[in-house]
Amino acid sequence: MSKLALLGGSKAVTRAVPDWPVYDTGEADALNRVLNSGKWWLYAYGGGPTPDGTTSADISEVEQFEREFAAAHFVKHCYAVPTGTCALELALKACGVGPGDEVITTGYTFIATSSAVFSLCALPVYVDIDPDTYNIDPARIEEAITPKTRAILVVHLGGEICDMDAILAIARKRGLAVIEDAAQATGSILEGDRAAGGIGDAGIYSFQAKKVMTAGEGGACATQDDRIAELIWSYRNCGRSRTGLWYEHLRMGHNNRMGEFQGAVLRHQLRRLASQCRTRERNYDALLAKLAGIPGIRVRRLRADATQRCLSIVILTFTGEGWDGISRDVVIKALQAEGVPATIGYGWANYSNPAFADMQEALGHRAFAFGVEKFPDWSQYVQRCPATEQACSQRAIFMPHSILLGDEAYVELLADAFAKVYEHRTDLMKGGF
Ligand SMILES: Cc1ncc(COP(=O)(O)O)c(C=O)c1O
Repeated sequence: MSKLALLGGSKAVTRAVPDWPVYDTGEADALNRVLNSGKWWLYAYGGGPTPDGTTSADISEVEQFEREFAAAHFVKHCYAVPTGTCALELALKACGVGPGDEVITTGYTFIATSSAVFSLCALPVYVDIDPDTYNIDPARIEEAITPKTRAILVVHLGGEICDMDAILAIARKRGLAVIEDAAQATGSILEGDRAAGGIGDAGIYSFQAKKVMTAGEGGACATQDDRIAELIWSYRNCGRSRTGLWYEHLRMGHNNRMGEFQGAVLRHQLRRLASQCRTRERNYDALLAKLAGIPGIRVRRLRADATQRCLSIVILTFTGEGWDGISRDVVIKALQAEGVPATIGYGWANYSNPAFADMQEALGHRAFAFGVEKFPDWSQYVQRCPATEQACSQRAIFMPHSILLGDEAYVELLADAFAKVYEHRTDLMKGGF
């Protein structure tokens, strides 16, 4: 094999990363349909109070999307919103999380998981991940429960569904709500009809640009529970009620409605979801088979009962075994030079982000707004979450889902790049990396 690209050789991956987002004339038609209808917002169609008091038998694009998405995820209720972050805030609020509450969650996630909790003046309590799955370790949840605990907010990282049976058993025993952050798990399904986001009390999804379905931005809340659904509906609609007048507000909600252009695009994106999941699963298996012979690269443990996996992030574990002391970060640099879109993923756990250094400054509120005299010492979690810390600093390798949307030949090139970097590892040392 030729010299490492990092040291001036040619790249192992000679093709570009497969395009994302995938779109065709279906999205263009959807956008034109909305444009030419002149109905650019959900309330142009009725379906609740309208500014002029009218109702219509037509159903908006957003509402059709909600119905189609709910059916695809086996959930009773779904409400589309502008982002996954606001979906999280809505779901937590509708599940009763408020000032002074504690929410058990993971630090190995995007910051929105934590920021949504803070936005309700509640405090996250972090539990370590299982190093083999990268998801919250259910065995560590009970020891984190206090009299202030209100909910467990799980994250299905990279599309892999958490151990929901174990988590729900703890929650039911202790009277806690379970909210699923399925921002990265759209389309992941267990046992045929238990979809990510539809298993706990409420779930959320994100349709931001990097997710497996996208309208650039977007999100949704889902629930099987009629009462929680009504609260989400109301909070999303400025605190209105379905039967009230337009300027009658029962609650302090926000305008968190999705626009019709996004709804129409997402309806079309949804039609590709299942077949794209199948393509990713097939290429994922091919990639793993080809990486199997490379020392020190392990794959995460996936659930055996999954019937559809969205694989929104390809997560590998770098153990260092057989790499003669080369660090993950150097390996990633070398892989990137070879044309592999690998990154370190979350370089910090949520609780180690700079925002946590001065909470009053970061939040704009004093501690008493959160029901405490002073904010927790977040550095305690560095000791309490060793698997999270190792994933951040030494072990995780992330690659985007679009690498699995090409053909097998592309996946083979990626595996060749890993093999090449491994074979030339001593050159990295000699090269001063
Ligand atoms: C785990 C997780 N939660 C929440 C979000 C927030 O979603 P959005 O970017 O749509 O607000 C994201 C987005 O990256 C995410 O990855």
